[in-house]
Amino acid sequence: MDKIGINGGKALKGRVKISGAKNAALPIMAATLLASGKFKIHNVPDLRDVKTMAHLLRIIGAQVEFANNSLTIDTSKCNFYEAPYELVKTMRASIYVLAPLLARFLEAKVSLPGGCALGSRPVDLHLKGLEKLGAKIELEKGYIVANAKKLTGASINFDISSVGATGNILMAAVLAQGRTVIGNASHEPEITALAQFLVTMGADIEGIETGRLTVHGVNHLKPVEYTVVPDRIETGTYLMAAAITGGEVELTDTDPKILTSLVSKLRECGVLIEEGDSTLYCKAPNQIKPVSITTAPYPGFPTDLQAQWMTLMCVANGSSMITDTIFVDRFTHVAELRRLGAEIKRNKNSAVVTGTENLNGAPVMSTDLRASASLILAGLRAQGRTDVLRVYHIDRGYEKIEEKLKLLGADIWREEGGL
Ligand code: UD1
Repeated sequence: MDKIGINGGKALKGRVKISGAKNAALPIMAATLLASGKFKIHNVPDLRDVKTMAHLLRIIGAQVEFANNSLTIDTSKCNFYEAPYELVKTMRASIYVLAPLLARFLEAKVSLPGGCALGSRPVDLHLKGLEKLGAKIELEKGYIVANAKKLTGASINFDISSVGATGNILMAAVLAQGRTVIGNASHEPEITALAQFLVTMGADIEGIETGRLTVHGVNHLKPVEYTVVPDRIETGTYLMAAAITGGEVELTDTDPKILTSLVSKLRECGVLIEEGDSTLYCKAPNQIKPVSITTAPYPGFPTDLQAQWMTLMCVANGSSMITDTIFVDRFTHVAELRRLGAEIKRNKNSAVVTGTENLNGAPVMSTDLRASASLILAGLRAQGRTDVLRVYHIDRGYEKIEEKLKLLGADIWREEGGL
């Protein structure tokens, strides 16, 4: 297995291009199943999850080509309506094919995702919502088996604002007969991107960017050409990398408007940030002020940036509290950061972090995608050498991370070996 080696202590300087958003690209890829024909999708990040979704679409019968960050997907010969366990267990986002298969072919069989490093992560809201639209759903040998004679619009009010459930119900509703209202809908930018993609395909959706989506079902959707929005989580990770290392970095091809909660928290820490139309300039202060955060649905602080924020607070000038309300168990990075000398006390879904001048390099283990990013950021700051093992997690979600960091002056490399 590959590992990433880092000789820490170098301030990052320079300019880096932000990739397309993984969490927008994956549901959009699944949504191509809603229409027959040839799609072109641009600004798609070259990531393991994207390749896994491409593999899944091929299993379903689509022809998929991926070159130079553009995907061509031809869905005219889809004939197998199943997402097997082998793929779903490596990528939860496979659940996004459930609704498009059901909406277009009136049947789908998708493995239940099961638990993961972030906790149990149920899909009950997806299933209840699809049942309300008229699907018959059974659980058989670890699979969700869904059938329908037809889908009919309904009023669905989520108890919890869920990105995945909103995406799935939206994709079913666009081809359901009549009107669907989704209350307490997620309006994360990736859901907005999915909704805009569906509208380009011919869907009728009102309330995009709000917590209440109204969908008027149409009979037919068409294949389209589309460009994926920038990745706000990658953007946030590089902003924090600059701040943590005492650096000065400009990010291009991004969208400052979808990262306001992080940007205002970074400013509270003393970080200088200047926003352009599609750029963000960031300069670290001499000392990072401690600032507490609580994760929340958009536009709150994203759970996908919680681990990286913890690394930033590990080098702040005092104590802060980090609380995750989305995934209460999302703290596997705590024990690894402690190995580098971080002072962190965890209590249930919160952690109190006391900053230190003395992070020291050590071997650490990636446990999930964003935790891996937090360990790389810590390695960039720590004195001496850090090896981040099991980097396959990072390859799920960060395009060319060591190349981009190298461009910014980091002493970072990838090598074979390690656990
Ligand atoms: C979540 C994050 C998303 C992030 C992704 C990967 C939020 C609101 N969502 O999306 O930003 O990119 O993880 O880290 O920040 N839930 C249920 N039943 C369901 C579905 C969800 O109880 O059927 C609960 C979850 O356990 C969680 C909350 O709802 O506590 C939000 O989950 P959801 O948004 O669905 O998770 P993801 O779509 O994976």
